[in-house]
Amino acid sequence: MPAPATEQPSARPVPRHVAVIMDGNGRWAQQRSLPRAAGHRAGARTVRSTIEYSVRRGVTALTLFAFSSENWLRPAEEVGLLMQLFLEALDREVAELDANDVRLRFIGDRARLAPALVDRMSAAEERTADHRRLDLVVAVAYGGRWDLTQAAKRLMGMAQAGTLDPQLLDETALAGCLTTAGREQPDLFIRTGGERRISNFLLWDLAYTELWFTDTLWPDFDESIYESALEDFAGRQRRFGRTAAQLQAS
Ligand code: IPE
Ligand code: IPE
Ligand code: MG
Repeated sequence: MPAPATEQPSARPVPRHVAVIMDGNGRWAQQRSLPRAAGHRAGARTVRSTIEYSVRRGVTALTLFAFSSENWLRPAEEVGLLMQLFLEALDREVAELDANDVRLRFIGDRARLAPALVDRMSAAEERTADHRRLDLVVAVAYGGRWDLTQAAKRLMGMAQAGTLDPQLLDETALAGCLTTAGREQPDLFIRTGGERRISNFLLWDLAYTELWFTDTLWPDFDESIYESALEDFAGRQRRFGRTAAQLQAS
């Protein structure tokens, strides 16, 4: 049978795990002479469409950076609004995620969040714990350096308690103490909003992730731009240190 003239999108490799820095809400609002809050509200809608499209395209894990360790440095009013929007989004979306077989979890420094918010986060995690279609992780009050530091503290505690021999500390043991433990590494990283930086996102986990940047501001991120990222990913050769010849031989 002759090969089809055009490859079906489904035949191209799809990233299993996509990690996203959702940046550009403030500038989106500024361009429209709106308060930054309007940009954050618009950004929350994009979160929903991105989750839906991820499921449709066969992505099985999605990690979204919602609020960084450094975002605490923003004006108190903006921080308060972001926390409020986060709470509202949780209340609004959890039933839908539950109905669509999406497992929701959070990573980040919960000690810095309001107890009422932490309770709602835990309840959402419990409610969706058995779901398998999409493993959705939202990073809130998260920083890659924070994660590595809390992992180091846990490892030192284990060494002090005699349950870990420091000589046997290896990459697997360290990875097992990160808040991302047990998840596959992201295959594709997407950052909207034009900046070409990691901004303290998943420092350990992004070691071999394919990076993709777009100037599109987060509220404007839609299916066609997501599709461009997936298309770019599908054309990349991931060598993980090996040579291209080695990969062809295997
Ligand atoms: C991303 O948009 C949302 C958060 C960081 C919480 P920004 O608020 O950073 O938007 P810009 O970068 O100022 O446009
Ligand atoms: C990164 O965006 C954090 C999130 C999107 C949550 P920022 O807007 O905070 O990043 P910088 O400060 O420009 O690097
Ligand atoms: Mg920004």
